[in-house]
Amino acid sequence: MSTPAGEDLALLTEPPSLGLAGRVAWITGASRGLGRTLACAFAGAGAAVLLSARSSEPLEELAAAIKGEGGDAEIVVGSVADPAVIAASIAAIEARWGRLDTLVNNAGISPFYKRSEQIGAAEMREVIEINLLAPLACCQAALPLLEADGGGSVVNVSSIHGSVAAPRMVGYAASKGGLETVTRTLAVEWAARGVRLNSLAPGYLHTDLSAGLVEHPHLGDELRSRTPLGRFAGNAEIAACALFLAGPASSYVTGTTLFADGGWTAQ
Ligand SMILES: NC(=O)c1ccc[n+]([C@@H]2O[C@H](COP(=O)([O-])OP(=O)(O)OC[C@H]3O[C@@H](n4cnc5c(N)ncnc54)[C@H](OP(=O)(O)O)[C@@H]3O)[C@@H](O)[C@H]2O)c1
Repeated sequence: MSTPAGEDLALLTEPPSLGLAGRVAWITGASRGLGRTLACAFAGAGAAVLLSARSSEPLEELAAAIKGEGGDAEIVVGSVADPAVIAASIAAIEARWGRLDTLVNNAGISPFYKRSEQIGAAEMREVIEINLLAPLACCQAALPLLEADGGGSVVNVSSIHGSVAAPRMVGYAASKGGLETVTRTLAVEWAARGVRLNSLAPGYLHTDLSAGLVEHPHLGDELRSRTPLGRFAGNAEIAACALFLAGPASSYVTGTTLFADGGWTAQ
């Protein structure tokens, strides 16, 4: 083995870091569940955070907790599907920090669990609007700020069901599969502008969104048994992947899906 030199030697003294201190991240759906954990993880890594969701009280409490620990946070209340809320989020980021380094499209819903022959068009539209069209609109609105500082990144929170088929998931699967193809398309289009986009596809977490499944006596056990690691993910384990995709350690990673799924997609 040759002696490390040049770039290799530099890694000995300056290993890849999260590199998020002083950066600004916008996290949608930050009022609870994975989004709340993401907010704490980014703030803990030194990033200022813009937190958005429809519920004001938990957002205010979370922002206060982050500030109490010496962090920097701002909130915008409203639906991520509302163009005025997206515009207000960008305006708040510009006014307070004047830059945006990372957008985490985390807000998501899974409002029905029905077989495909029972799904109505309105139900499909609802889930596609929140899980697919809204993240795309956030990406479009964030692009000028993301490219302004020469190296922004987007983390789109998908799901294993963006690629692994399961019954009673047609709307959710369509929305997450669509989100992953949108992510890859934008990654190709925006690479020359210095903006990276990646999907993060968790397996099952224990949140409000998945409680009906993971707490179900039979379905919960079945899901666990289909997970090679044999357990559901902790929110912090997924947030750690988002920190990697957001920061400089993933500077050559774009257009991918990171499966943080306990081994589902390896089967
Ligand atoms: N739980 C899982 O097992 C699992 C697995 C894979 C992927 N995921 C994905 O992870 C992400 C987070 O899910 P979660 O499990 O943390 O769900 P959750 O606990 O239900 O939280 C969802 C978050 O999204 C926000 N949200 C929902 N609709 C919104 C809207 N119209 N506008 C703005 N914010 C909205 C909610 O806030 P408000 O209600 O206050 O608006 C909440 O903060 C989702 O994209 C989900 O698909 C979850």
